[in-house]
Amino acid sequence: MRFTPNGPDQDMRQTAARIAKYRIHQSRYGYSRWILIERASGRPVGDAGLLFLDDYGWIDFGYRLAQPFWGRGLATEAGSAWIEKAFTELGLERLTAIVHPENHASMRVLAKLGFFKERQDVIRGMRCLVYGLTSARLRTPHPRD
Ligand SMILES: CC(C)(COP(=O)(O)OP(=O)(O)OC[C@H]1O[C@@H](n2cnc3c(N)ncnc32)[C@H](O)[C@@H]1OP(=O)(O)O)[C@@H](O)C(=O)NCCC(=O)NCCS
Repeated sequence: MRFTPNGPDQDMRQTAARIAKYRIHQSRYGYSRWILIERASGRPVGDAGLLFLDDYGWIDFGYRLAQPFWGRGLATEAGSAWIEKAFTELGLERLTAIVHPENHASMRVLAKLGFFKERQDVIRGMRCLVYGLTSARLRTPHPRD
């Protein structure tokens, strides 16, 4: 959570409020952050998905997993499912992702998914790299960023 601009939730009430906002977002836009459930055990292991950031005017792609589930390809699997949904079912044209410059695992996930690095910025107080992916680019072969 040290690489998340708002940091961790302080308590369950804050978590419940965050999930309530995700539900409202889902009804409004048809997408949101969704829970990730491990198929084998049925356990919740993280979340992933899209949020429209109206203060920035972009659709933010984000993901996070509980630590015991890192390193199994799950973020890449969930990300690739979201990209497919975004560009086919939802008809979106562009996704944006922000990453702390020391979050090497996350940068690797974005590279594997075909995102390209656009610029450095400060978003919600966090120094970050801004990545983008367009539906047009996804369909064009490209070197790794
Ligand atoms: C970032 C995160 C989502 C990655 O999830 P994951 O399921 O472990 O990711 P994947 O297994 O799909 O891929 C991780 C890749 O990063 C690589 N990686 C892991 N740690 C790394 C490091 N320190 N430096 C470079 N690469 C690293 C892995 O080897 C793997 O690449 P590979 O498939 O080429 O071997 C997970 O670590 C996490 O939840 N972190 C905390 C929350 C967070 O940072 N979310 C993203 C905010 S932008």
